Amino acid sequence: MTGPQLAALLDDRTEGGGPAYARVAAAIRLLVLDGRLPLETRLPGERELAAALGVSRTTVTTAYDELRAGGYAVSRQGSGTRTALPPSRAHGATPAGGGPLWTPWAADGSDLLDLAHAAPEAPAQVRRAYEAALDQLPRHLPGQGYHLFGLPELRAAVADRLTARGLPTLPEQVLVTSGAQHAFTLVLQLVTGPGDRVLVEQPTYPNALDAIGRHGAVPVPVPLADDGWDLDAVAAAVRQTAPRLAYLMPDFHNPTGLLASEAERRSLGAALTGGRTLTVVDESLTDLALEGTVPPPLASYLPDDLTVTVGSASKTLWGGLRIGWARAGTALIRRLAAVRASVDMGSPVVEQLAVAELLGGLDATLAPRRAELRSRRDALVAALAQRLPSWRTRVPAGGLVLWCDLGRPVSSRLVVAAERHGIRLAAGPRFGVDGAFERRLRLPFTHPPDVLAAAVDGLEQAVGSVAVDGGGAADSVDAVA
Ligand SMILES: Cc1ncc(COP(=O)(O)O)c(C=O)c1O
Repeated sequence: MTGPQLAALLDDRTEGGGPAYARVAAAIRLLVLDGRLPLETRLPGERELAAALGVSRTTVTTAYDELRAGGYAVSRQGSGTRTALPPSRAHGATPAGGGPLWTPWAADGSDLLDLAHAAPEAPAQVRRAYEAALDQLPRHLPGQGYHLFGLPELRAAVADRLTARGLPTLPEQVLVTSGAQHAFTLVLQLVTGPGDRVLVEQPTYPNALDAIGRHGAVPVPVPLADDGWDLDAVAAAVRQTAPRLAYLMPDFHNPTGLLASEAERRSLGAALTGGRTLTVVDESLTDLALEGTVPPPLASYLPDDLTVTVGSASKTLWGGLRIGWARAGTALIRRLAAVRASVDMGSPVVEQLAVAELLGGLDATLAPRRAELRSRRDALVAALAQRLPSWRTRVPAGGLVLWCDLGRPVSSRLVVAAERHGIRLAAGPRFGVDGAFERRLRLPFTHPPDVLAAAVDGLEQAVGSVAVDGGGAADSVDAVA
């Protein structure tokens, strides 16, 4: 990575109070923590970065020293300074007696409490489904084990659920993938090229933004209003930018938790159909309604040849299953499968058998899970109201996260400060195009209430330290406010 490239990523995030070296180090650390600077990225030479940032070389040297001391960079003779994450202080030991390895701590091996990801633990049914899958496995062993489109029983189970929700679907219209993100990247690979525009909600799911960028495509952000979709803005963006693709989350949108009403679905469908815009509808969170019901799938307001609905077992069941799907017209599904064959040749059979089994009894599995998530959501809302009363949040009717308004543009600084208090967060700007949402923070309520209460304790202390650091100054603009 060159000095100007890193300087562009750092943008104005090195401004604010405190010594310059500490601000440069903190800004780079944040980029590493939220994945915008991949691990093992070679950082630019000190002189080059100093010139690009307009600071002294000593500032960069000291910033790199601080990153190395904290484990966020490693220098080796001949290969320069590369990004890294600190080694584990908490992991590496299997609990005595072979107890569960799960902890609420971050999966990178640090001992930080992970509030950057929103993924709950597996319900008990997952283990039982694996056992049932192993019982069925002998039927499959005489075959090749390659199922490019997915196991017939899983394709049928996915089609049945979509049909029951109001979107008539044949098994041939389903492609099993390794998650919803995989399904989205297959669509990007199929239809987008460098410079193509992709309409996205602003804010949106960060990994979708990363995937759009990696395909050389350009996100066209359409701001969400506080209470829903700005239908005129979507229609105008479709008309004025003729996007190649749209990526939408009408069900418990990540991160806002918004649920599109039936009327909004009808209008979104009309605008996108009018523009002949291929639309990816991400339904990863659809089955996590905590109150009320979900209107019919957005795809039922769009033509089959212009819609790919992507779904996943990750949030309703367990992320470790790594099973998702794409649903579209059969011709489009065949084209997506052809793209898939150039990447991988199908998903693992045992996991597909397990998910087919789990989808059969999904409503029974989800009832206690929803009740649990409801109580976790309410515990987090109550703890925030008590400890951080100036923060504002809409209580979502489903999904896994709160989208908090911090009242000040301090999200990135809070993420850095929270690390010192044992908490890993994802900064608001991760969810927006062009650094928006510095006033916002996404907080998952996927942990048990006592863990969430401890997390809010840590957050309160971190907020205090940001204030002491002179955190009131605006260092980035929340374009959506
Ligand atoms: C909206 C949304 N889409 C996709 C994904 C990725 O899901 P999967 O694990 O199925 O790839 C997530 C996970 O956080 C998500 O929240």
